Amino acid sequence: MSKISKQMNKYIGLTENISSRLEELTRYKSCSYETLLEAERYSVTAGGKHLRGLILIETAKLGGAKADTALDFACALEMVHTYSLIHDDLPEMDNDELRRGKPTCHVKFGADIALLAGDALLTKAFSVIASNIFFSERKKSECIRILADACGEHGMLAGQAIDKLSENKKIDFDSLCELHSKKTAYMFCAAVQMGCLLGDVSAETEKELLKVMSSLGLAFQIKDDILDVTSESSVIGKPVKSDEKSLKSTFVSLLGIDKSRELLENISSDIKSNPIIVECPFFAELTDFFVNRTI
Ligand code: IPE
Ligand code: IPE
Ligand code: MG
Ligand code: MG
Ligand code: MG
Repeated sequence: MSKISKQMNKYIGLTENISSRLEELTRYKSCSYETLLEAERYSVTAGGKHLRGLILIETAKLGGAKADTALDFACALEMVHTYSLIHDDLPEMDNDELRRGKPTCHVKFGADIALLAGDALLTKAFSVIASNIFFSERKKSECIRILADACGEHGMLAGQAIDKLSENKKIDFDSLCELHSKKTAYMFCAAVQMGCLLGDVSAETEKELLKVMSSLGLAFQIKDDILDVTSESSVIGKPVKSDEKSLKSTFVSLLGIDKSRELLENISSDIKSNPIIVECPFFAELTDFFVNRTI
């Protein structure tokens, strides 16, 4: 069950469709390696907000694509995102024990299976895109490239590497923006790029939406840093004070809570001054959700 409903009711139908399709795509038959399949399914159906998938579908709809045809691309993106979280929680990474309100994959299945379950979701995502029956080979291979670049060595993984290398260090504002953009904003931007491609959204609109999404992706991670300090694990479904425990470089550790909140407000008003926001109301709602979210 998706958790986005509380704050973005209107989109519950779509996020529920993503949840159901993820359930379908990870059904398995009893076999000698079923623990691996169980671990993949456990994490990917644990109840994420499915924001990246939702953004992909809403962007594709802007250009006239039908939500149903874009659904598997949204699921692929969510599979890659879940893989990144399984690995992010591992003892050698953030060493966290709670995710989406449940024990993390390695706590439940052991680090060996969790590592493999993450790898399996990553590779399965590309297979799901390649197998899609609604879009051309050209669009599918371009989506695969966009996704691989966003999560790869110069994208999310680069961000994760900088995140680890910056533990117990004071890094400057620009380096922190680079870290957060790569580890978090790139995957959100991939959602917009894939959506634009699938829906034949114009190059001008895509350019503006990408500007919006890069700022919003950064804002999402700033808010994540704030929630790590101000929330409760029963609300966010993951441990709080995890960043402090790992001596992470975060916006809160660099600027403090008040200045981080101020920055978030400034980014949000900047985004709202972009005329594309008027044409695409979903992105205005998303901006409010990213800034005000409690989950
Ligand atoms: C968590 O992302 C990881 C970050 C980039 C901060 P989400 O908050 O979107 O996680 P789920 O998918 O809803 O669990
Ligand atoms: C993780 O950032 C971003 C990923 C690429 C997985 P965090 O480490 O801050 O995410 P949470 O707080 O564990 O969800
Ligand atoms: Mg991390
Ligand atoms: Mg983490
Ligand atoms: Mg965090």
